[in-house]
Amino acid sequence: MTDQLKGVVLAGGTGSRLYPLTKVTNKHLLPVGHYPMIYHPLMRMRRAGIQEVAIVTSPEHMGDVVNLLGSGRGLGLDLTYRVQDEPGGIAQAIGLCENFVGTDPFLVILGDNVLADDLTDEVAAYQRQLAEQGGGARVLLKKVHDPERYGVPRFEDGKIVEIIEKPTDPPSSYSVTGIYFYDASVFDIIRGLAPSRRGEFEISDVSTAYVQRGHLSHGILDGWWGDAGTMEGWHEANELARSLTYEELETDA
Ligand code: G1P
Repeated sequence: MTDQLKGVVLAGGTGSRLYPLTKVTNKHLLPVGHYPMIYHPLMRMRRAGIQEVAIVTSPEHMGDVVNLLGSGRGLGLDLTYRVQDEPGGIAQAIGLCENFVGTDPFLVILGDNVLADDLTDEVAAYQRQLAEQGGGARVLLKKVHDPERYGVPRFEDGKIVEIIEKPTDPPSSYSVTGIYFYDASVFDIIRGLAPSRRGEFEISDVSTAYVQRGHLSHGILDGWWGDAGTMEGWHEANELARSLTYEELETDA
């Protein structure tokens, strides 16, 4: 294991909640602000010093994703690609990155998450956790007005004791954003998961498994954050990202 984090960006799924915008293209290639959606998580990784990144997407859209991003050189990244043959959930998609990750810790960002905050301090906080506990996971939270749309943490004495996926009766007003830090033990956890009621391997169950080991920490995002994966969320993210530009990319145009 090294200290240096790798990155995983998940860009699979059918994009059904954005249909018909996604009839002929992948959700993560739709525009958000000045860029294709997937640029946002990728640039957050680059800013936080993560260069080796795997992108997971579906067979239908792999060609378009590679056409857009190529080797990653233009973005200052070194990209690897993995195919998720059927949409089986976020946890399954992470499982496909086991060989890429090896024994390194890594940051996962969902390809439809758009955020204002630089993640450098969060990477450092997770590295401190690894040094102190020898492993573990960290999730980033954001206070939201509609937690039932997301994975929601339940707290006891200020600590997360459970994460519930899209609860009808949310136990707090925080969303677990699609930004997760894991160590390589996550792959054993994923192998032990059972599919949820919607037939997917849920990321919330993965993080809850770390709670049970006493190894889940959390941070809270200061700036705005959006999940652009629904029509409402996509409009909101476009509005929020209107003034967001990455100066690193200007010279690459
Ligand atoms: C996914 C996760 C959920 C998380 C959300 C954040 O939901 O399952 O736990 O809160 O991303 O973007 P989805 O957007 O796939 O419904």
